[in-house]
Amino acid sequence: MKKKYSNSAQETQNLGYEIGLLLKDEPHVVILLDGDLGSGKTTLTQGIAKGLGIDQVVNSPTFTILKKYISKDKKHTLYHLDLYRLSDVGSDFDLEEYIDGQGLVVVEWPFQVEDLLPNDYLMIRIRKTGDNQREFILECVGYPCKRAVEYV
Ligand SMILES: Nc1ncnc2c1ncn2[C@@H]1O[C@H](COP(=O)(O)OP(=O)(O)O)[C@@H](O)[C@H]1O
Ligand SMILES: [Mg+2]
Repeated sequence: MKKKYSNSAQETQNLGYEIGLLLKDEPHVVILLDGDLGSGKTTLTQGIAKGLGIDQVVNSPTFTILKKYISKDKKHTLYHLDLYRLSDVGSDFDLEEYIDGQGLVVVEWPFQVEDLLPNDYLMIRIRKTGDNQREFILECVGYPCKRAVEYV
């Protein structure tokens, strides 16, 4: 387990960037982002995308629960899931396909699908400690993210 701190959205993006760099060559990692609305889950994901060499803008449009991004060199794929509105969208969504698949998978609001969560994951809990202050608790469960948590 590791704690990190941020004093701005940019610092949170930088943390995401480091995490992306450290994990980009793993064949498959699931990152679970736990935190309130506005805590910085999407901001962190934007940095992770940059770390993978993704140029596209990463955001969380209403009613879109899955977005797929591919890096410029086509070597890295990011699946960004935002499950906040999952109950509105319905349950015909095949989450397991992504959870058990390839690439880096980032899940906002993971406890919406508690029963489907994988055995191995990097859990990042984000806590808002001030207007611009955030605390991150990184916990690697299973093999593939140990290195990232050590070095970040
Ligand atoms: N240290 C910080 N880290 C992340 N976001 C911050 C920070 N300080 C202020 N913010 C602001 O908080 C908001 C976080 O929004 P967002 O990343 O969309 O959160 P979430 O996806 O968790 O709902 C943004 O408007 C961002 O500019
Ligand atoms: Mg978000």
